[in-house]
Amino acid sequence: MRGRGGPRDRKSELRTAALKRRRSIGKAELAELSSRVEANLVALDEYRRARLLISYCAKDDEVQTRPIIERALAEGKRVAVVSTDVRTLRLGFSEIASFEDDLAPGAFGILEPRRDRLRPVSIAEADLVLVPLVAWDERGHRLGYGAGYFDRALAGTDVLKVGLALESQRLPDVPESRHDVPLDVIVTDRRVVRPPRG
Ligand SMILES: Nc1ncnc2c1ncn2[C@@H]1O[C@H](COP(=O)(O)OP(=O)(O)O)[C@@H](O)[C@H]1O
Ligand SMILES: [Mg+2]
Repeated sequence: MRGRGGPRDRKSELRTAALKRRRSIGKAELAELSSRVEANLVALDEYRRARLLISYCAKDDEVQTRPIIERALAEGKRVAVVSTDVRTLRLGFSEIASFEDDLAPGAFGILEPRRDRLRPVSIAEADLVLVPLVAWDERGHRLGYGAGYFDRALAGTDVLKVGLALESQRLPDVPESRHDVPLDVIVTDRRVVRPPRG
């Protein structure tokens, strides 16, 4: 399992290729694709019903979430944003009132809730969590950056896990490890995928 050619090596090859593909998308195109993802997301019943949602803040080449976060706040939803603790490999979640005022660059230069304004929420309180990904498949398996942050945070939770994805990040088959937590819904720039469960 752990040796050469095992799922870890396979994942790491797929990750490298997927990241390279994603980096080739221009800024304007990514913004356009992200706004299609947003349109598909906000049409979901689960989104409309959600009162508290958790979102990541996007790195440069991830599906952009600023418009989603600002829209959800404007619609009167509560929004909590992810912070990354690189020492413990844990994610934290803190509610924000304003994208502009309540965030500052944290680990990896990604925006996260300002430390002087923390309003921690637990994942169990959220109705929906928006999960970033490097690659995905139609069974709901995802590749992250390889540190397992979201697998750790989502393990054992029954919050609705929604991957925000580009169609071009889809793979036929993402290798699955035992600790991997599958997505319930994948929202892409073209459609909504609901992997069969069971
Ligand atoms: N719930 C967990 N508890 C402990 N370690 C975990 C957990 N989830 C993931 N990991 C560890 O995180 C590492 C990376 O996981 P992986 O699924 O390959 O990354 P990613 O999901 O970021 O693509 C693995 O070595 C795995 O053992
Ligand atoms: Mg994983």
